Amino acid sequence: MDAEGRATQGAVTEERHYERMAQAIDYRSRKPSCGRCGAASERFIVMKKHPRYIPAFHFRWLTLWYDPMMRRLYPEEALKNALIAQAGIQSGQNLLDMGCGTGTLTLLIKQTQPNATVYGLDVDPQVLDIARRKAEQAGETIVLQQGTATCLPYLDGSFDRLFACLMLHHLTREDKQRALGEAFRVLKPGGELHVADFGKPHDLTMWLISLAVRWAEEVHDNILGLLPVFIAEAGFCPVEETSSYRTVSGTIALYRACKPMGVVYETCVSIE
Ligand SMILES: C[S@@+](CC[C@H](N)C(=O)[O-])C[C@H]1O[C@@H](n2cnc3c(N)ncnc32)[C@H](O)[C@@H]1O
Repeated sequence: MDAEGRATQGAVTEERHYERMAQAIDYRSRKPSCGRCGAASERFIVMKKHPRYIPAFHFRWLTLWYDPMMRRLYPEEALKNALIAQAGIQSGQNLLDMGCGTGTLTLLIKQTQPNATVYGLDVDPQVLDIARRKAEQAGETIVLQQGTATCLPYLDGSFDRLFACLMLHHLTREDKQRALGEAFRVLKPGGELHVADFGKPHDLTMWLISLAVRWAEEVHDNILGLLPVFIAEAGFCPVEETSSYRTVSGTIALYRACKPMGVVYETCVSIE
């Protein structure tokens, strides 16, 4: 892409452009690639270290147990199927599972709509290895990439649907807001964000559990009911809670949010 083309893609400085390039790794080729122009570049062979992150189930030594524990302790299948159902995925769409972890949802999405192109992104190479093995075993083609949700390595307006399942509570408030801003940027106008994460408790039992878990990881803002607020602040409209699940660690809520038509990338200026 030439300089003019890049300039038309919004007010992104050269420095930011190169920062994105340095942070993004094509998980298959291991070459740095750019979130703006998608190009791999020999110029950025030295990768920046990824920022610190909270792994799935918090402790690295629990990563191998993530899938069996999710199956046994949480209504995983019901929750992930409901998330997919509410997204109304169509043939030919581009879909991103942000913070895909071990790829359970990513694979379910692909199996639900084999004619969609499905991407899974996670910051943790260990979970991506598990996801890759699962995809090979299932014989499914999904694109798995290492990268951070706070600086997505994709072009503006690339995706029809973006999923964030149980990943936003791993991010600080500032990073939640950044990641939601990135989700907004990479979605097409009219595209949709589908989130499952800890939410405001709806009954006494869930509220009592929330007293214990609210200081875990970065759950606190979720329990205060701030996730839909952050989603709306990122530019999505409307934002709705579609359902909620009672679990051993409290309420998990599902949200659907739309990127309005006629929005120009980060500036969110209506062109109607
Ligand atoms: C609880 S797991 C959820 C995994 C999967 N979405 C699921 O529903 O099973 C949270 C995931 O978020 C990932 N994660 C944490 N911080 C991240 C970041 N900044 N960017 C991308 N992924 C991140 C973790 O590595 C982990 O795999």
